[in-house]
Order: sequence, then C-alpha cells, then structure tokens
Amino acid sequence: MISNGWLLALALCAGLSAGASAEGGKTEVGATACANCHAEKVEAYKRSPHGRSLAAAKDVPFEKSCETCHGPGSAHAEAGDVTAIVNPKKAKDGSAACTSCHAGEKSRMFWAGSVHEKNGCASCHSVHGGEKRLLAKRSELETCTSCHSDVKASLMKRSTHPLRDSFRKGSEGKMACSGCHNPHGSQTEKLMAGRSINDTCYTCHTEKKTPMLWEHGPVKEDCMTCHTPHGSTNDKLLTTRPPRLCQSCHMQGRHQSGTLGQNSVYAVGKACLNCHPMVHGSNHPSGTVLQR
Ligand code: HEC
Ligand code: HEC
Ligand code: HEC
Ligand code: HEC
Ligand code: HEC
Ligand code: HEC
Ligand code: HEC
Ligand code: HEC
Ligand code: HEC
Ligand code: HEC
Repeated sequence: MISNGWLLALALCAGLSAGASAEGGKTEVGATACANCHAEKVEAYKRSPHGRSLAAAKDVPFEKSCETCHGPGSAHAEAGDVTAIVNPKKAKDGSAACTSCHAGEKSRMFWAGSVHEKNGCASCHSVHGGEKRLLAKRSELETCTSCHSDVKASLMKRSTHPLRDSFRKGSEGKMACSGCHNPHGSQTEKLMAGRSINDTCYTCHTEKKTPMLWEHGPVKEDCMTCHTPHGSTNDKLLTTRPPRLCQSCHMQGRHQSGTLGQNSVYAVGKACLNCHPMVHGSNHPSGTVLQR
C-alpha cells in the first residue's frame, strides 16, 4: 500500500512543517500527506460543505484541513498506525473537534448535558461524504430510526404524521423528526423544538392555538392527553377511541357514563363526537357543550 517514493516525500513534508503545532511530539504533516493513503477522503472533503466554505473563506486552508479535526498526524502518517491518530467518532470527547467551531449557534444552545451529547456529533453526522446536512444515513428519518426503532414501528401504524415518505433517499417528505424535535438539545422535555409540547404542535396546527369562546379544558393543557405523536392504531392519532377516551374523564352525568349499548348513538360512528364535534373548543355563541 505504501511506496517508498512517497514515504520519502512524506518525511520531507513532515520535516517542512515541523514548526507547526505539536502535540506529544506529533506534528502536522498537511492534507497532501494524508492524500497519499486516503485519497478518497480528501476528495470527499473537498466537495463537502466544510471543504468548500472553510477553504473559500480561508479559515482553514486545504493543507490544514484534516488535522483541524484529527490532530497532528505525523506519527500516524509514518505507517498508518491507527492508535496514533484521533478518530472523533471513537474518541471520548470527539465532539470537541466540532464544537470548537460550532459553538454559540442557536440551534445547539442546549447541546451540553442533552441526551445525545454522549453519543457525539458523529452519531448522526458523517463528515466525509455525508448526505444532506452531512447526515450519516440517506435521510433524517433513517438516521434517527437507526437507533429509535420503536418510533419507526409506530410510523407504520394506521394513523401517523406524514413522515413515512421521508425514508426515501434525498426525500424531504412533508415533515421530519426535526419538525417537532431538536436533536441537538432543548430546554423542553423530550427534546421538543418548541417551548412546550403544545407550543410545538401550534407551529403547524395554529388554529388549535386561537383562543376560543368555549374552551375544552384538557386541550390547552396538553395535546398528549388524547393524542400520541408518532403513530396510533386509532384514527387521528388518538390514544383511545371515543367514547372510552371521553369517558376517562366524563363519568358523571346523565348520558356520558354507563354501559352504552352497541347501537347506542353514544357509541356508534363518532360516538360522543356525533353531538360534541368541537372537541378542541367552540366559537359558536351557543357552543357551550362543544356541540357546534
Ligand atoms: C502511510 C499511509 C497513511 C497516511 C500517510 C495517513 N494514513 Fe490514516 N490510516 C492509514 C491506515 C492504513 C489506516 C487504517 C485503515 C483505514 O481505516 O483506512 C488509517 C486510518 C486512519 C483513521 C482512522 C483511525 C481509527 O481509529 O479509526 C484516521 C482518522 C486517519 N487515518 C486519518 C489520517 C490523517 C488525518 C492523515 C494525514 C495527517 C492520515 N491518516 C495519513 C494510513 C495512512
Ligand atoms: C470537520 C472535521 C473533520 C475534518 C475536517 C476531517 N475529518 Fe476525517 N473524520 C472526522 C470524523 C468525525 C470521523 C469519524 C467518522 C465520520 O463521522 O465520518 C472521521 C473519520 C476519518 C477517517 C476514518 C475512516 C472512516 O471513514 O471512519 C479517515 C481515514 C479520515 N477521517 C481522514 C480524513 C482526512 C484525510 C481529512 C482531510 C481531507 C479529514 N479526515 C478531515 C472528522 C473530520
Ligand atoms: C474549522 C471549523 C469547523 C469545524 C472544526 C467543524 N465545522 Fe462544521 N461547519 C463549519 C462551517 C464554517 C460550516 C458552514 C458551511 C456552509 O454553510 O456552507 C459548517 C457546516 C456544518 C454542517 C452543515 C452542513 C450543511 O449541509 O449545511 C454540519 C452538519 C456540520 N458542519 C457538522 C460538523 C461536525 C459534526 C463537526 C465535527 C466532526 C464539524 N462540523 C466541525 C465549520 C466547522
Ligand atoms: C441525534 C442526531 C444529531 C446529533 C447527535 C447532532 N446532530 Fe446536527 N443535525 C441533526 C439533524 C437531523 C440536522 C438537520 C436538521 C434540519 O435540517 O433542520 C442537523 C443539522 C446540523 C447543522 C446544520 C443546521 C444547523 O442546525 O445549524 C449543523 C451545523 C449541525 N447539525 C452540527 C452538529 C454538531 C456540531 C453536533 C455535535 C455538537 C451535532 N450536529 C450533533 C442531527 C444531529
Ligand atoms: C446513535 C443512536 C441515536 C441516534 C442516531 C438518535 N438518537 Fe435519540 N436518543 C438516543 C439515546 C441513547 C437516547 C436516550 C435514551 C433513551 O431515552 O432512549 C435518545 C433520546 C431521544 C429522545 C428523548 C429525549 C428525552 O428527553 O427523553 C428523543 C426525542 C430523541 N432521542 C430523538 C432523536 C431524533 C429526532 C434523532 C434523529 C435526528 C435521534 N434521536 C437520533 C440515541 C440516538
Ligand atoms: C408531531 C410531532 C413529532 C414528530 C414529527 C416526532 N415526534 Fe418524537 N415525540 C413527540 C412528542 C410530543 C413526544 C413526547 C411524548 C410524550 O411525552 O408523551 C415525543 C417523544 C419522542 C421520544 C421519547 C420516547 C417516547 O416515545 O416517548 C423519542 C425517542 C422520539 N420522540 C423520537 C422521534 C423520532 C425518531 C422521530 C422521527 C421519526 C420523531 N420522534 C418525530 C413529537 C414528535
Ligand atoms: C411540522 C408541522 C407539524 C407539527 C409540528 C405537528 N403536526 Fe400534526 N400534522 C401535520 C401534518 C402535515 C398533518 C397531516 C395533515 C393532513 O394530512 O391533512 C398532521 C396531522 C395531525 C393529526 C391528524 C392525523 C390523522 O391521522 O389524520 C393530528 C391528530 C395531529 N397532527 C396532531 C399533532 C400534535 C398533537 C402535534 C404536537 C405534538 C402535532 N400534530 C405537531 C403537521 C404537523
Ligand atoms: C380531549 C381530547 C383531545 C385533546 C386534549 C386534543 N385533541 Fe385533537 N382530536 C381529538 C379528537 C377526538 C379528534 C378527532 C376529531 C374527529 O374525528 O372529528 C382530534 C383530532 C385532531 C386533529 C385532526 C382533525 C382536526 O381537527 O384538524 C388534529 C390536527 C388535532 N386533533 C390536534 C390537536 C392538538 C394540536 C392538540 C393540542 C393543542 C389536541 N389536538 C388536543 C381529541 C383531542
Ligand atoms: C383529560 C380529561 C378529559 C377528557 C379525556 C375529555 N374531557 Fe371533556 N372536559 C374536561 C374538562 C376538565 C372539562 C371542563 C370542566 C367541566 O365543565 O366539566 C371538559 C368539558 C367538556 C364539555 C363541556 C361540559 C360543560 O359542562 O361545559 C364537553 C361537552 C366535553 N368535555 C366533551 C368531551 C368529549 C366529547 C371528549 C372525548 C372526545 C372529552 N370531553 C374528553 C376533561 C376531559
Ligand atoms: C345524542 C347526542 C349526544 C351524544 C351522543 C352525547 N352527548 Fe353529551 N350532551 C348532549 C347534549 C344535547 C348536552 C347538553 C344538554 C344536556 O344537558 O343534556 C350534552 C351535555 C354533555 C356534557 C355537559 C355536562 C352535562 O351532563 O350536561 C358533557 C360533559 C357531555 N355531554 C359529554 C358527553 C360524552 C362523554 C359523550 C359520549 C359518551 C356524550 N356526551 C355523547 C348530547 C349528546
């Protein structure tokens, strides 16, 4: 794999840049030296968003590029000793190579201490020749569900958000996991992108946010009281089907409780919603019991 000719060139190169940054006796040798054994990586880097923008901005000239993330490579470049080079994916604090530049960015404000921090940036991003946004898999959905397989299973249920078609390569689909989650960390539980679960839902379902003349208590409190986010065997992502769903809270009263006969108007069709369709609230002057 290694020819004597370029080993010599390598030695020369290492010698020339010996004055550059050193770490435990290691020095920087430059990208041209890496290219001797990792030509594909070098080409991929040149085409990647990092290669294009950093070199163009002269922030990290090509020769310095590899070792910005991998550290000084002289010891490794001698014969390819893998223990003598940093692989950020395997290194204990591998993400430091990324956060040195990607610090203070709004979307990653809550990275430190977030659930994904210990997996590292490289668990979702593949810096060399990654897909769009440098994601490790061909779509965001595949990247996320490679670990969250239970969520993938939910997406196959009868009622879901329109996420499934985003599994195709390059497809953005109608939405993705990041429509609701911030994978980089969030102030909110469950990595919600919004300030709360409800606020996240409102970003798309804005009509549910509007104040109503007659509100339905649980709706403004937490959408998850009646819905499940990823998939349900019931229509409309409901956790349980009416009338049972409604009866979990409404057991007092003339008609809402008790064993409802199979053909009862309280149980067939949309059950309680036959007469109370405005379950998210009503703006009708006489919609007091959410009937219009
Ligand atoms: C003499 C040939 C040679 C040179 C020059 C060389 N490498 Fe390597 N490198 C290898 C071999 C062989 C491996 C192990 C097989 C593989 O992963 O491709 C390797 C592996 C690596 C790995 C993976 C280590 C791991 O633990 O997974 C990284 C990162 C790496 N090289 C970076 C670099 C960088 C950066 C440079 C330039 C500073 C460089 N290499 C120069 C031969 C070389
Ligand atoms: C922005 C940071 C960054 C830069 C710049 C960078 N690498 Fe990497 N490199 C990584 C990360 C992170 C990994 C771990 C695997 C992954 O995420 O793709 C890696 C993995 C590798 C590997 C191991 C093989 C593999 O696919 O896992 C080699 C070899 C390598 N890089 C060589 C290079 C060379 C040569 C350059 C310069 C052209 C370079 N890298 C520039 C971050 C970087
Ligand atoms: C030397 C500074 C620097 C380092 C180190 C660095 N980045 Fe970047 N990164 C940038 C810049 C600048 C951009 C903006 C590129 C653009 O907008 O075209 C960028 C863009 C990105 C993007 C967005 C790409 C896109 O398609 O929009 C991702 C993802 C990313 N970096 C991940 C990483 C990861 C993961 C690491 C660590 C392995 C890392 N970066 C290390 C400077 C850096
Ligand atoms: C759990 C998976 C995951 C991890 C871990 C992760 N990212 Fe991301 N990242 C994503 C996804 C998904 C996107 C695309 C989001 C979008 O398109 O809005 C993204 C987008 C980005 C972007 C471009 C858009 C933006 O938000 O600026 C950058 C830069 C980036 N990530 C850097 C990083 C860095 C740096 C780390 C580590 C500190 C990291 N990512 C860790 C999943 C991840
Ligand atoms: C490398 C594996 C891995 C990948 C890839 C990954 N995650 Fe995670 N994720 C985890 C682990 C580990 C946890 C914490 C343990 C748990 O709750 O399962 C977690 C937790 C979560 C949580 C729950 C947070 C909480 O507070 O309970 C959400 C939401 C999440 N991930 C979303 C995503 C999204 C969205 C993506 C894709 C952008 C993604 N994950 C990619 C491993 C991964
Ligand atoms: C419509 C918004 C939405 C979308 C899209 C979405 N999630 Fe969630 N996710 C949520 C909400 C809300 C919760 C919190 C559920 C709760 O607390 O009951 C959650 C919880 C989670 C959890 C924590 C464990 C659990 O099941 O409670 C993981 C992991 C997760 N989501 C991963 C993903 C992945 C991966 C994707 C993309 C395939 C995704 N989510 C898409 C809204 C969404
Ligand atoms: C990124 C935008 C977006 C966010 C955020 C979002 N949704 Fe949706 N939601 C949609 C789209 C798009 C549809 C499909 C509409 C259609 O098919 O007409 C949908 C459909 C639904 C449906 C009907 C499902 C069915 O089977 O017909 C329910 C229920 C729902 N969303 C609840 C929620 C809840 C609860 C949240 C917050 C956890 C939420 N949505 C967050 C975009 C979003
Ligand atoms: C008290 C239970 C309950 C709560 C809480 C609730 N929903 Fe619903 N939701 C329902 C029922 C029942 C349906 C089915 C209506 C139908 O089939 O006519 C539904 C249907 C939907 C639909 C699809 C039909 C439509 O109206 O657009 C969306 C979207 C939706 N809900 C979003 C939300 C959001 C967002 C929240 C939180 C702000 C929320 N829901 C809170 C019970 C609830
Ligand atoms: C998590 C508990 C909960 C669930 C589930 C629930 N509700 Fe309610 N509902 C309430 C609360 C709390 C009120 C407001 C307090 C009150 O007046 O009883 C309310 C009020 C109502 C009212 C107006 C009553 C009045 O006197 O003004 C109707 C009608 C109603 N709900 C129907 C339904 C239907 C239909 C469903 C099923 C789709 C349902 N509810 C599911 C908690 C719930
Ligand atoms: C055939 C139409 C119809 C169906 C079906 C129906 N309701 Fe009603 N509901 C009404 C009417 C009309 C009122 C207001 C008049 C009254 O006091 O009975 C009402 C009132 C209510 C009230 C306000 C408190 C009260 O007792 O007056 C609640 C709560 C309620 N319904 C819940 C439910 C639940 C839960 C179901 C499903 C098990 C359901 N309703 C099914 C017609 C219906």
